[in-house]
Amino acid sequence: MPQQLQGRLRLPIISAPMFLGSGVDLVVGACRAGVVGTFPALNLRTTEDFDGWLTQIETALAQPGPDGREPAPYGVNFIVHSSNKRIEADLAQIVAHEVPLVITSLGAAKEVVDAVHSYGGLVFHDVTNARFARKAAEAGVDGLILVSAGAGGHAGGINPFALISEVRTVWDGPLILGGALSTGRDVLAAQAAGADLAYMGTRFLATEESLVSEGYRDMIVGSGAEQIVYTPSISTIPANFLRGSIVAAGLDPDNLPVPDKVDLGHVTNPHAEEEAPSSSPAPKAWKDVWSAGQSVAGITSVVPVAQLVDQLEAEYTQAKGELLAVIGG
Ligand SMILES: Cc1cc2nc3c(=O)[nH]c(=O)nc-3n(C[C@H](O)[C@H](O)[C@H](O)COP(=O)(O)O)c2cc1C
Repeated sequence: MPQQLQGRLRLPIISAPMFLGSGVDLVVGACRAGVVGTFPALNLRTTEDFDGWLTQIETALAQPGPDGREPAPYGVNFIVHSSNKRIEADLAQIVAHEVPLVITSLGAAKEVVDAVHSYGGLVFHDVTNARFARKAAEAGVDGLILVSAGAGGHAGGINPFALISEVRTVWDGPLILGGALSTGRDVLAAQAAGADLAYMGTRFLATEESLVSEGYRDMIVGSGAEQIVYTPSISTIPANFLRGSIVAAGLDPDNLPVPDKVDLGHVTNPHAEEEAPSSSPAPKAWKDVWSAGQSVAGITSVVPVAQLVDQLEAEYTQAKGELLAVIGG
């Protein structure tokens, strides 16, 4: 565990960044409950609005949490790719606000790492295979987030155990494991598998503070793992979506068209699609077709984020006791 996070978390959990899902209330609620809250910089349409969210979060987190507890640090997801037109302006805001944790995606650049290190911040980079892990290690990141099969959003296709084994051949630093984790027991299992932190997205989408609609949250609660469809069809890069939302958008989940090329604009300029004229017949990824991971299997209710973290802690403590009874120690 990086020193900047040691002793600052109630549970080793990052509430993962989610496009159109994580906003100020979820980030602040997660941090005040004692786990890292994060959001994607590109959830905002402009750098000015990004600056505004950072200020709101900082102001809220300057107050002590419940029971006088110091809130956990927060983080931002930053897309490092030449087609992200806001890269310089957003990085300037990250540095100006001294964002404690920066989660880079697509590219791991030494200049970004150096900029964040200049004020003592941390950079975690998300990867889906060992090749990208090696590149990120070379850029000097502080931790690698392994996005394994079954994750919400642009998931990888590799089983978490296999991914950990493979990445461990090129990286001996902090590991953060993501993909289909939903309970406190899963968090303990991630630690047992060698992770320092658990990365949970979908589970935090099913909270009252997330930005998604009630219908979306209800579909998460009502779906099982088999209702998650892994397809490149919706955003040209393979991602996991709720089957029910694909049907509601007028598409056949068992007969989806295969895109002929990858369009990274889905990641680096995500609002462009959202802003497409409403007369456009194509359903919009994320807005009309809803993303979620296989962790829906373990999600049975929508609760306030503070209650979710209480629940995760109770599950974690119980699982630890049961495990120790089995293996001794
Ligand atoms: C609706 C949704 C939107 C997401 N948007 C982003 C994003 O903008 N940037 C990002 O790095 N990851 C994004 N993710 C992936 C999450 O950060 C995380 O990797 C994933 O949710 C972990 O798997 P889990 O959902 O099974 O917990 C998204 C996931 C979901 C469910």
